[in-house]
Amino acid sequence: MAIMVTGGAGYIGSHAVQRLLADGHRVVCVDNLFRGHREAMEILSRGAGARLVFVAAEVGDRDLMLRLIESHGVDTVMHFAALAYVGESVNMPLRYYRANAASMLGLLEAVEASHALPGGGVSRFVFSSTCASYGEPVRENIPIRETCPQSPINPYGWSKLHGERMLMDFADMCARAGRPFATARLRYFNVAGSDPAGLIGEHHEPETHVIPVALQAVLGQREAFTIFGTDYPTPDGTCIRDYVHVVDLVDAHVAVMNAIKPGEQRVYNLGIGSGFSVRQVIDSVQRVTGAKLNIKEGPRRPGDPSELFADPRKIREELNWQARHTDLDSIVQTAWRWFREHPRGYAE
Ligand SMILES: NC(=O)c1ccc[n+]([C@@H]2O[C@H](COP(=O)([O-])OP(=O)(O)OC[C@H]3O[C@@H](n4cnc5c(N)ncnc54)[C@H](O)[C@@H]3O)[C@@H](O)[C@H]2O)c1
Repeated sequence: MAIMVTGGAGYIGSHAVQRLLADGHRVVCVDNLFRGHREAMEILSRGAGARLVFVAAEVGDRDLMLRLIESHGVDTVMHFAALAYVGESVNMPLRYYRANAASMLGLLEAVEASHALPGGGVSRFVFSSTCASYGEPVRENIPIRETCPQSPINPYGWSKLHGERMLMDFADMCARAGRPFATARLRYFNVAGSDPAGLIGEHHEPETHVIPVALQAVLGQREAFTIFGTDYPTPDGTCIRDYVHVVDLVDAHVAVMNAIKPGEQRVYNLGIGSGFSVRQVIDSVQRVTGAKLNIKEGPRRPGDPSELFADPRKIREELNWQARHTDLDSIVQTAWRWFREHPRGYAE
């Protein structure tokens, strides 16, 4: 059997492909390369031989996805493919509903059709959702549990929440029909860090995530690092977020994939359970790199909640998973290794 990884040429997906190959799985990676990197696939295919198949394609292409599921004997899908910039989603909402919701619909239609195949087709589906689906939780709901009401405040969050809803309704139908289908919706907080061996890493264009942006400033690729808002009701006035290492995040996917049983629909928050402020991130970046950042203080960005971090108890209690990288410096160190050795990302 094989695992289909959508968005596998992107940041998180490529780390998932790396881990699944290391575990001995066969992987069919689908990515339209809109924001992904063929180079990541080339790096990962070395040593994997025929166990990694890369297909440059749109995941919403139902017929193609069905053919891939059938011809490679795919029984599990990890669905990472998406567009994931909040600001862009506000300016181009329909692009987000197309890429995240409509494409997922096509993929789910392929999964549905695969249930008629002789081997039964796809029986496990793991979906990358996001803490953006919670919107701006009220203070009492922080740290955020999975039961926190989901009320996104931008099209990105809504497009992912639509994905969750489609998956739930489809899984309900499968359960009623007695089809062996298991799902998990994993709501990530801020994913950071890179493969500790430095083979693959984070390369978003444009880059908006705070740790890579700070590292680009260290490398002189940005004139300064701007803090958006220094008057939040937090100890140092800057926003607090939960940073989970990409390798830990992928580890959680593997634990979830192995645990889910037919008929189950699980949902977990993936974070470390505590937050770091933007100033703490800057301090860590300066400590790890030895550089002094040129820091500018700008106004708040609309829709940036002051504090967001997970309550990761559920996955710890049910699956004994917890993040191993819980100190910021160890997360920043792996990111720094990648940026230092690949200052232009995969373009190097
Ligand atoms: N990076 C984070 O901190 C974070 C936080 C929460 C959730 N997520 C979710 O994790 C997933 C991966 O995020 P990432 O940071 O690796 O992003 P990324 O942009 O690096 O990777 C996404 C990949 O999906 C591909 N893709 C997008 N739409 C596609 C489509 N319709 N068909 C085929 N390929 C398509 C892109 O080319 C890209 O390679 C996304 O679903 C995102 O919503 C990320």
